[in-house]
Amino acid sequence: MELAKRLDRPVVLVGLMGAGKSTVGRRLARRLGIPFVDSDAAIEDAAGLSPAEVFERYGEQDFRDGERRLVARLVDEGKVSVIATGGGAFIDPRTRELLNERAITVWLDAPVDILTERTSRRDTRAQLRNGDPKATLERLASERRQAYEQAHLHIKSGSGAHREVVEAILRALDAHLKGTD
Ligand code: S3P
Repeated sequence: MELAKRLDRPVVLVGLMGAGKSTVGRRLARRLGIPFVDSDAAIEDAAGLSPAEVFERYGEQDFRDGERRLVARLVDEGKVSVIATGGGAFIDPRTRELLNERAITVWLDAPVDILTERTSRRDTRAQLRNGDPKATLERLASERRQAYEQAHLHIKSGSGAHREVVEAILRALDAHLKGTD
């Protein structure tokens, strides 16, 4: 059976800033013929402020609370879709548990050098505005690895084309669904 028809829950991309969650997620959704939702963009629609503005005006805790509620709402809708989360969403234990219960979670794992290069193209991330971005990403990578490792699927994404990452996710989803059929 066609892969999209075998899905009964959202596919959720997790991983650090710059791993390609939004770009790859959009392409993956297109390949599967299902809707794509970007949680950072949804927060921006709801709050009328970008994630960086929410961080800077109200602090990280408020951003995390809003993010947790938004991700819960998206998962509650139960729609078969691809959801790209912000890099910190899966670090929250409650969000992680909910996503692992109700979605298929995919960790997009890229080396810090690539994350540093990609995130340097746009100044949209509050956490990377102060200090050395590479050092910050290295710290986040080591602090968060244990949480990201709990995703159902682990996809390494290097400097190759996004298309190849999409293909790797499709293969991993196929194998995962065979295992849970
Ligand atoms: C964050 C990642 C960002 C955004 C916010 C916090 C994080 O999303 O949600 O700046 O803590 O890793 P992206 O991973 O889409 O850049």
